[in-house]
Amino acid sequence: MCGIVGYVGTPGKTPSAVGLVLDGLRRMEYRGYDSAGIAALDGKGGMAVEKRAGRLDNLAEAVEDANLNNYESTTGLGHIRWATHGRPTDVNAHPHVDSDNKIAIVHNGIIENFAVLRAELEADGFGLRSDTDSETIVHLLHREYYGDGENRGSIDKSVRAVANMLEGAFTIVIAHADHPDRLLACRRNTPLVVGIGEDAMFLGSDVAAFIEYTRQAVELGQDNIVTITKDGYTITDFAGTEIEGRPFTIDWDLEAAEKDGYDYFMLKEIAEQPHAIADTLRGHLHNGRIVLDEQRITDEDLRQIEKIFVVACGSAYHSGMLAKYAIEHWTRVPVEIELASEFRYRDAVLGPDTLVLAISQSGETADTLEALRHARAQKARVLAICNTNGAQIPRESDAVLYTHAGPEIAVASTKSFLAQVTANYLVGLALAQARGTKYAEEVEEIFQDLENMSAKVEKTLEQWDNVNEIAGHFAQNDTMLFIGRNVGYPVALEGALKLKELAYIHAEGFPAGELKHGPIALLEEGVPVIVIMPSPKRHPLLHSKMVSNVQEVQARGATTIVIAEEGDDSVIPFADHIVRIPECPSLLQPLVATVPLQMLAAEIATQRGYDVDKPRNLAKSVTVE
Ligand code: AGP
Repeated sequence: MCGIVGYVGTPGKTPSAVGLVLDGLRRMEYRGYDSAGIAALDGKGGMAVEKRAGRLDNLAEAVEDANLNNYESTTGLGHIRWATHGRPTDVNAHPHVDSDNKIAIVHNGIIENFAVLRAELEADGFGLRSDTDSETIVHLLHREYYGDGENRGSIDKSVRAVANMLEGAFTIVIAHADHPDRLLACRRNTPLVVGIGEDAMFLGSDVAAFIEYTRQAVELGQDNIVTITKDGYTITDFAGTEIEGRPFTIDWDLEAAEKDGYDYFMLKEIAEQPHAIADTLRGHLHNGRIVLDEQRITDEDLRQIEKIFVVACGSAYHSGMLAKYAIEHWTRVPVEIELASEFRYRDAVLGPDTLVLAISQSGETADTLEALRHARAQKARVLAICNTNGAQIPRESDAVLYTHAGPEIAVASTKSFLAQVTANYLVGLALAQARGTKYAEEVEEIFQDLENMSAKVEKTLEQWDNVNEIAGHFAQNDTMLFIGRNVGYPVALEGALKLKELAYIHAEGFPAGELKHGPIALLEEGVPVIVIMPSPKRHPLLHSKMVSNVQEVQARGATTIVIAEEGDDSVIPFADHIVRIPECPSLLQPLVATVPLQMLAAEIATQRGYDVDKPRNLAKSVTVE
């Protein structure tokens, strides 16, 4: 939700700020695309600012028209917006600038007390131009820096003072034209990382902002203020006490964040899924035991667990539904799956014998973060599954398993979803092992099955042409239904979500057995129904039930698209279209069955002329509740 880039370089040695910040924003575009803006300092007390509503290309054009590409500057900041307060207009775009055109700020998050602060500023004679909560910040800074108080003339003290006035979630980067050697930033509840370059330092909402220049980064803690200059950085808390950040090395490179010949990042990310599974498994079976990446609780603590809640949002939630099937089956511990946005607002029974499994690709989803804080406040243990090293969710958890899907740029989750499913199964095995409900050989056998899934996903990718051809029949439909049973049900939900968010088609997923209890009324001639068939060999009972369900929908005029195992010929009479997936253990089938649904959504969206990577109204990380 909103992307931020900051840069302080060395004149004559490192690239100029405008181009570098624009490039950084390009890589952050998945975080929002309602508007974009940039500010650069000329080192002589001057500052250039451009901002535009809409996609980054609009800003790039404005920069070109204003001849800013040649602007001499090695200090700059940029912002890509996902609108919360105020419509996506030029005026509401960031950076926001004070009345003297000296201070510029960009902000990610929500200032919850902005109405009070705004009223205070207006009473003090400040004229606010935008409808945003963010603009108040720049005027507060102006008031501190140019006022008669103790902070006058000190940008450090002014930033500290303002940080202490704000409530809510914020990452703010601040530039002052009279201090062109530095940028300051503060954060609470929203992400910010520092990049350590050669003769240059960077700030970014995530490392994609500066991955072209360095893989050395520093993670900031909660309520930290950081100052970067070309030579280094200092971190303090909001009281001004110096503290240490946590340095880390980024384990992916620029190439991983680029399209690599695909038309869209999403297509590349679908194709990368075999690696996402393999990389997520790598290193987690050690001497016959499943090991997590971080464990700050003991196996004894895990043995005490009597109930598990899985909390997550969107696709991560669908992956969590699969965790329930696996964990209950392997450990016999009851598991409840909850939407994170609902979890903390009901009175779930939580305590030291409860484990909350928080699943998040970004590790910064506000709903999930607040759900885990709520759980921890009641002494529950929290285990996080996350794709982003050092993000807030893993930092605040008792144990962590990182998925290694690599950077996921497309807004729609694909490889991170399959990696989450894989990680969920690893967590299930780790719990089973700690509690003694699975022998080491069984754990190893299931781990081996998981390893085999990479090749099976690779094989499923061969269906791409077939799926694209099928998509052509339905690209203009305005409704599609997805049905599955057991682990096929979360797959149906995930397929429907992909279609909704990418192709803007009304799509719903149902447990197939539930159709006849109501949704079957939606069926009429030609409505496409996508069916996830269980394996006839591995789950014959479920398979026969599903055959009946397909017959039921076809009898009511629906057009059926059946995702069926290779060799399952029983479905041929009832399938208008078939997509084949390899045979695999029933619990693991979602890893292959989801793939054609991702392809289908991407292809239908393309045929409808939509931007597959940047669906309307969405942002990759949702850092507001
Ligand atoms: C799905 O394609 C979306 N990207 C969305 O539902 C996502 O899974 C959800 O917002 C959770 O994000 P997270 O994994 O970063 O927490």
